Amino acid sequence: MPWQLSRRKNLKLRVIPINDAGEVDIDEFVKLINPKTKLVSIVHISNALGTINPVKKIIDIAHAHNIPVLLDGAQSTPHLKIDVQDLGCDFFTFSGHKMFGPTGIGVLYGKTQYLEMMPPYQGGGDMIREVTFDHTTYDDLPRKFEAGTPNIAGGIGLGAAIDYLNQFDREELLKHENALLEYATAKLSEIKGLRIIGTAKEKASVISFTIEGIHPYDIGTIIDTDGVAIRTGHHCAQPVMRRFNVPATARASFTFYNTFEEIDKLALSLNKVIKMFS
Ligand SMILES: Cc1ncc(COP(=O)(O)O)c(C=O)c1O
Repeated sequence: MPWQLSRRKNLKLRVIPINDAGEVDIDEFVKLINPKTKLVSIVHISNALGTINPVKKIIDIAHAHNIPVLLDGAQSTPHLKIDVQDLGCDFFTFSGHKMFGPTGIGVLYGKTQYLEMMPPYQGGGDMIREVTFDHTTYDDLPRKFEAGTPNIAGGIGLGAAIDYLNQFDREELLKHENALLEYATAKLSEIKGLRIIGTAKEKASVISFTIEGIHPYDIGTIIDTDGVAIRTGHHCAQPVMRRFNVPATARASFTFYNTFEEIDKLALSLNKVIKMFS
């Protein structure tokens, strides 16, 4: 949706298709690139499907055509150790609240060469080098973009959340999450009528699913009474729902503190829902 704003500048928005597993079609991506392409933007990990996109490959292809790449890392920062220099992306965004930090704060990382070309998006204190009645020059990065008194508490909170996550061996956390994903995929696949939406080879510990004849809202509401919390809805990704011909999905997502017993409880609870509706 943010990229639809590009129409104001008469830019065309072209969308990379995904296959039935929820993986980006790289051949189609290459075909979409032309000399007018200004930017490639892609989600690092899909919140709706769990797909981990092959972002390094995408960045390499885009850079071979001198096109900058923006990665939406809202879902990847909680699951993966991120090194923007290693990834080579030109922009990277993420939200504090998805990595156990405060709400209302996030990060836009950008390479200096692009940030210097960009005008400030809002005005306020401490962003100006010099002002006269008819002219203004802006301060150096990042102050040019940090207008007004900043969200100091949010910044400190987000820093603490990042330190909290980084005190762990992130590789070990990922191993546990992958084991949970494998276990849950097998467990949920045994449930009759349950369809997993998003079966990419590279997947984060997220399982989106539907159950034949039962609306995801009902699934979520009923298993909530068992103390099992999942997310239901279109996950702010309606075009993805349309691609898979479903109005919404139920989505269980696992992080490092989740357990195998909790997955057993989820499966048990889902079977209960099916019984209620049959
Ligand atoms: C991949 C992805 N991008 C962006 C967002 C939006 O994040 P925020 O709520 O911080 O605007 C979300 C939130 O669900 C997300 O999953």
